[in-house]
Amino acid sequence: MKKFLFGLLLGFSVPLAGTYFFVILGGMPVATKGSPLPLERFLAKKALHKAMDPEAGHPSPLPASEANLLAGAKVYQAQCAVCHGRLGQPESAIAKGMFPHPPQLLPPKKGVTDDPVGATFWKVRNGIRLTGMPGFENSLSDDEMWQVSILLRQADKLSAQIQQALQ
Ligand code: HEC
Repeated sequence: MKKFLFGLLLGFSVPLAGTYFFVILGGMPVATKGSPLPLERFLAKKALHKAMDPEAGHPSPLPASEANLLAGAKVYQAQCAVCHGRLGQPESAIAKGMFPHPPQLLPPKKGVTDDPVGATFWKVRNGIRLTGMPGFENSLSDDEMWQVSILLRQADKLSAQIQQALQ
């Protein structure tokens, strides 16, 4: 029994001590240009899906009308473009310097426009901790968060008027 407890203690303390020394000896990347830790992306993705998936299937309560897309474009320009890109303009210095790198959502890329609108709404409302993606729950109304989410969903088929509002 004693041996078992000793083994158990050792089994817990070796990885803990290892992690401690890894951090204090400078193994942990802190600068934004450092590469991700082993398994970091994998675990972060798993955690995000666990939190988001129950709500990701929610349909938008607002239709993808021209008026809602235009309102979404205004929100995008004011709150998102600095990190996620503007039509016809190069990536901002802020976006270039961030880790993780904010995906450029405009011009639209496959893989984002096909995300369910409920998943985008979840990310806009809650943000994604430790990534720089802000949560907008306390600064945008529900309508505004749905409008910008619809805009991203439709980003590959926007009318000339909406495209102009995004420049
Ligand atoms: C300060 C920078 C910043 C701002 C402002 C910002 N985001 Fe983000 N956003 C990020 C980063 C960084 C990520 C990547 C997070 C990750 O790697 O998990 C992200 C991720 C996302 C994603 C997930 C994209 C994907 O590939 O699945 C969506 C959607 C998104 N943001 C929408 C928005 C919207 C809409 C706004 C404005 C209302 C906004 N963001 C404002 C930094 C920002």
